[in-house]
Formats: sequence, structure tokens, C-alpha cells
Amino acid sequence: MTPSRPSVVVILAAGEGKRMKSRTPKVLHAVAGRSLLGHVIEAASTLEPQHLVVVTGHGRDAVQAHVQEVAPWAVTVVQEEQKGTGHAVRIALADLGTRGISTADGPVVVLTGDTPLLTGQTLVSLLLEHGATSASATVLTARLADPTGYGRIVRRADGSVTAIVEDRDCDDDQRLIDEINSGMYAFDGGPLADALGRLTTDNDQGEEYLTDVIGLLEAEGLAVAASVCGDPTEILGVNDRVQLAEAAGILRDRINASWMREGVSILDPASTWIDIDVDLEPDVILRPQVTLRGPTTVASGAVVGPGTTLISCEVGPDAEVIHTWAELAVVGEGAKVGPFTYLRPGAVLGRRSKAGAYVEIKNSTVGDDAKVPHLSYVGDADVGTGTNIGAATVFVNYDGVAKHRTVVGDHARVGSDTMLVAPVTIGDGAYTAAGSVITEDVPPGAMAVGRARQRNIDGWVERKRPGSPAAQAAEAARQDATHETTSESE
Ligand code: UD1
Ligand code: CA
Repeated sequence: MTPSRPSVVVILAAGEGKRMKSRTPKVLHAVAGRSLLGHVIEAASTLEPQHLVVVTGHGRDAVQAHVQEVAPWAVTVVQEEQKGTGHAVRIALADLGTRGISTADGPVVVLTGDTPLLTGQTLVSLLLEHGATSASATVLTARLADPTGYGRIVRRADGSVTAIVEDRDCDDDQRLIDEINSGMYAFDGGPLADALGRLTTDNDQGEEYLTDVIGLLEAEGLAVAASVCGDPTEILGVNDRVQLAEAAGILRDRINASWMREGVSILDPASTWIDIDVDLEPDVILRPQVTLRGPTTVASGAVVGPGTTLISCEVGPDAEVIHTWAELAVVGEGAKVGPFTYLRPGAVLGRRSKAGAYVEIKNSTVGDDAKVPHLSYVGDADVGTGTNIGAATVFVNYDGVAKHRTVVGDHARVGSDTMLVAPVTIGDGAYTAAGSVITEDVPPGAMAVGRARQRNIDGWVERKRPGSPAAQAAEAARQDATHETTSESE
């Protein structure tokens, strides 16, 4: 069954979120790589509302900019002063009215911006319930072991809802009720607007409570229904950093469980953090302590971890990435990365290539079957197919003013400890001698030697460092050699 399309979804996000103790507005804090508000917008989008309104107040510039970015089709409304949840909905509807937007052709859904665990499915159930009962309002509720702090749902003996009473306004009996108001509702637009106009500030906080709308509708003889959310974690609101971590943990478990059901092996789910926008294929193996952020993708047969963070990366089939930090990098099919590798934006590793221990690669392509096995920096370079970059090679890309590119052809052999001073080109099949500083292009097939010739100054240590352990060792070695020569000649 499909529920009727809401005319409007209103998301309340004007509050300050004082308990976060943060420069960032509360609803912009993120879990699983998406803002709290972003999660709510995503859930709301499932309903395909005709209009989505976000009520902003504290930190409005940042919140409005964020809404523009994640849901450009949404409208933002400013609530100058936070005079209560009822006031917030009232000004949101008034604003829509001035834009000629009607709430007549579909229910009005009200959500709060700080409930990142809410799913679209729960909202669908809320709307189905609302439609089935023909109630003028349907409250999304949950039963909590500890309902402290939440508004309580007061029902008659026949189960119908009569009122929502705020925790601070509860009498002793009401305080014992374990069914709470999630702060999310579906309303019929007409009765809602009418009741909002009649709200008073006659309560402990002197605010216009949206919850009082329920009592007003009920007093008019209109039906009020409740939809109980099967998973009470879905309605958890984030008010401080403890709840932020709690929500992140619940979401992590939910995401991990869903990937495991899709055929991904997660060896240690408790230490594996996968952002909501990540995509994994079956037969991916995630070892302990892996964090996958942004729109990272990992193809079938790839093994990631332990101890790896990938931010907006693409890992090809059967690749292996161990103890690595990588951002905006592409790892080709069957490539091997790590341990202790740092891939920076624009690192593109070809098929069956290798980036080994203590290697940093930035803005560079490494060809199929090419290897950068040890202790190297590769920056602003194109390395050809089958080429080997010797240990401790540095692509010297920066002259202090500008960055320059280096090109290394196919099947080249760059000797250990080569400095490739860009801009420079190493031809196909060329070699460089270990320890060379290469400042000029090397033609295909040439051996480039760019280093001082070695000379040995005989007896230097015994003359300059007499009596030192080195001098003693040298003297002993010389005497042994003399002895051996003597014995041989005997
Ligand atoms: C509200 C409900 C309570 C429910 C709880 C669920 C009311 C009066 N109470 O209480 O029954 O159990 O949510 O979490 O509605 N906001 C605005 N403008 C305002 C006031 C609030 O945008 O003027 C926003 C806040 O930013 C927040 C949401 O509305 O996102 C809820 O407001 P809050 O003050 O936290 O209400 P609660 O006391 O939690
Ligand atoms: Ca709250």
C-alpha cells in the first residue's frame, strides 16, 4: 500500500542545541557522513512531499546553506525567536501561505531535525496509519524503558489519544506513562492551522506547544491517532555529544548489519565505520579498524584493512589495501597497497600495481603492473606500465613556487634513491642509476647516471680518528688481511 503524498513536510531545526557546546549548529553535526538534518531530509524524501520546509533560527546562515546543498528543492523559513514548536509550525505554514502553497491536498508531516535514526519506512507507516484511521492528527510514539524528558501520550481506556503532556507539566500518574511523543506527526492541514491559531503560552516554559494541538483537536471531537514505532531507537533525538555518539553507534551497527546481509564480510563490526553513501560489492572483506567515508566504493573480492581509512575512494576488484590512509584515490583491480601507505587526492593506481610501505602518492597515475614498493614520494607524475620505482625515490615536484609534472615511460627502472627533478621525462625502458639526481630528460632505453663518482681515501679513519672503535676495527681488519696474504703466500 502506498500512503497519500504529503502536501508539506515541516522539519523543525531552529533550536540552539545548547548542550552540544559547539560552534556548529546542532543539526549540522554528522553521523555516518551525513548531517543530522540530512538524515531527516533523506527519510522525509521517501514520502515524496510536494513541499519540504526547514524552520531555521540559530545558526540560520549555515543551516540554510546546508539545506541548499543537500536539498535544493527545499524551502527554508526563519523563526526569529524560538517561541515553541507550535509557533515554529505556525510561522512555517504562514510563510507557505504567502507563497500561495496550499496544505489542502495531502497531510502535513512535522519532523524534528535532530533524529538521524528515523527511517522513511517508519514515516510511511505513520502516514498509512493516518490515512486508515481518518484521524485529524496521528502522533508517532514509542514505548521507552525510561520516558523521562519526553511528552507522554495520554490515552482513554479504549486506546484513543486524548492529549500529550510535557514531562515538566506531568502529574505523578502521567509521569509513569511509558508511551512517549516522538515529536513527529501527520496532520490534516485545515484542522492543524485552525488549532495552531488557538495555541496559548500557558505552560511551564511560556511557549506555544505543538503538543497542545492534539488536546485542542480532541476537544473539538476530532479523532487523534497514534502510530507506535516498533524500533524506539528511530526516534532518538540528539541533544548532546553523548547522544551523538550513541546515535552514531546505532547507525554503524545498522549499516554494518545491512552490508553483511549483502555478502560483505566484516571481521570486527564494532571497529568498522561505514558512511551512509558507501557502496560495497559482495565478497568484499573488511578487516578490523576500517573507516570508509564519503562515496567510497569497494569492488568484489577486495580486502581492506586492518587499520585503513578510505575517503571518497574507489577500490577495484580483488585489490588489497592494508594500513592505509587514502582520500580521492583510485586503486585498480588486483592492486596492492600498504602497509603504511598514504594516497592523496588524484592518486590513480593501475591494475595489479603496487604502492608499498611508507609510500606517499599524490595527483599521479601509476600504470598497470607498475610498482612503487618502498619509502617513496610520487607527486604530480605519470608512471607507465610495468615500471619499477626503486626504494626511496622522490619525485621532486615543487621548486618552491610552482608544481611540475614528471613522466616515466613504460617498463622503466628507476634506481633506488633517485631524485626526479620535475619537469622531467624518463623514456620507455630507460634506467636510472641508484642515488641519481635526474634533472634532464632520459631517452628511451638509456641509463642515466647523475651522481658523483665514488673515491676512497685510504687510512683516513686511523689517521683522523685514532684509538676510536672504528679505527681499532679497521686496524684489526687490515692486520687480518695482511696475515691472510702472508699465509697464502707460504
Ligand atoms: C518536544 C515535544 C515533546 C517530545 C519531544 C521529542 C513539544 C512541546 N514537546 O519536546 O512532547 O517528547 O519533542 O523529542 O513539542 N524548535 C524550533 N523552534 C522552537 C522550538 C523548538 O524549531 O521555537 C525545534 C528544536 O530545534 C527541536 C524541536 O523543535 O529540533 C523540538 O524542540 P525541543 O525544544 O527540543 O522540544 P522538546 O522539549 O524536546
Ligand atoms: Ca528535544
